[in-house]
Amino acid sequence: MSVRKIAVLTSGGDAPGMNAAVRAVARTALSKGVEVFGVYRGYNGLILGDIFPMNLRSVSDIIHQGGTMLFTARCPEFRTEEGMQKAIETCRKNGIDGVVVIGGDGSFRGAQDLTQRGLPCVGIPGTIDNDIACCEYTIGYDTAMNTCIQMVDKIRDTAQSHDRCSVVEVMGRHAGYLALNVGIAVGATSIIVPEVPFDFERDIIQRMKKANETGKKHFIIVVAEGVGGVMELAARIEKETGIESRATILGHVQRGGSPTVRDRVLASEMGYYAVELLLQGKSNRVVAIQNDRIVDFDIEEALRMKKPFDFELYNIAHQISI
Ligand code: ADP
Ligand code: F6P
Repeated sequence: MSVRKIAVLTSGGDAPGMNAAVRAVARTALSKGVEVFGVYRGYNGLILGDIFPMNLRSVSDIIHQGGTMLFTARCPEFRTEEGMQKAIETCRKNGIDGVVVIGGDGSFRGAQDLTQRGLPCVGIPGTIDNDIACCEYTIGYDTAMNTCIQMVDKIRDTAQSHDRCSVVEVMGRHAGYLALNVGIAVGATSIIVPEVPFDFERDIIQRMKKANETGKKHFIIVVAEGVGGVMELAARIEKETGIESRATILGHVQRGGSPTVRDRVLASEMGYYAVELLLQGKSNRVVAIQNDRIVDFDIEEALRMKKPFDFELYNIAHQISI
């Protein structure tokens, strides 16, 4: 059966570049004569029928904007059979025969549930956490990393002026990819991530003391959200070293802002590719990038995969931050 009408939604935490992906989905479909509905607030919009027909101009002037013009949400009702049936009914009533879901792994589980109930779905990875195993770079990750380093560079100015230690928490939910890359990029003395068990004395205090002996007087410690506890950590460091310490939780600033070139290009390619897959009659696929090539995986297989942590990069970061 050929696909005549598709819907596009953004779900879970927003990520810079989601708009560029929405634009690519809409423009690709429309250019191929396929009708497109925008769905507001993720799966909520499907349940409530909060959808609107898109035209070429619906997605004008959004490629450079952070956030998502479709809004996003976490929708507990969608996880019930009743919620899913309501979502399917909205699609049936409007003749929607394919859905592009832009979000993280939770959103892909929802896409899989819809596909299993007869509504073909394709997922596009949009999350600053970069925690989708089959995909080397998720949409939003590059922008978030760049935002983080700008913020930490500013923190460094004041830490340096006061001879302080700054303990900075970056997002990533249960994953330390953002923290690792930000940590190496800002020259952090220690990078603390959930993937590597850490010893306070060995991994923070000893490293600080050693660097202090060679004249270093200010320090940046990057901590992943999945480890957390930065307030307590800063207090402990101050007590142990006598070096005045401050904690900063970067928070939602990391999710905003204009997407980088990399995120815009990635989002555009992935949006195009997702529509192509639906038009080829494929479903339950997630679009990904590997070795600079856009590829796709079965969602189930993708969700089972484990993303390796880059221990080499972790070791390099610590070796050169002395
Ligand atoms: P992300 O997509 O960023 O991982 P969430 O985990 O919050 O974000 O998931 C987003 C939404 O996807 C949820 O609010 C819910 O509507 C849907 N979802 C999450 N997990 C499932 C699941 N196991 N089955 C069906 N839908 C799910
Ligand atoms: O998944 C993106 C993310 O920003 C995580 O890094 C973080 O743990 C979570 O979402 C925060 O979510 P909320 O929007 O509920 O504050």
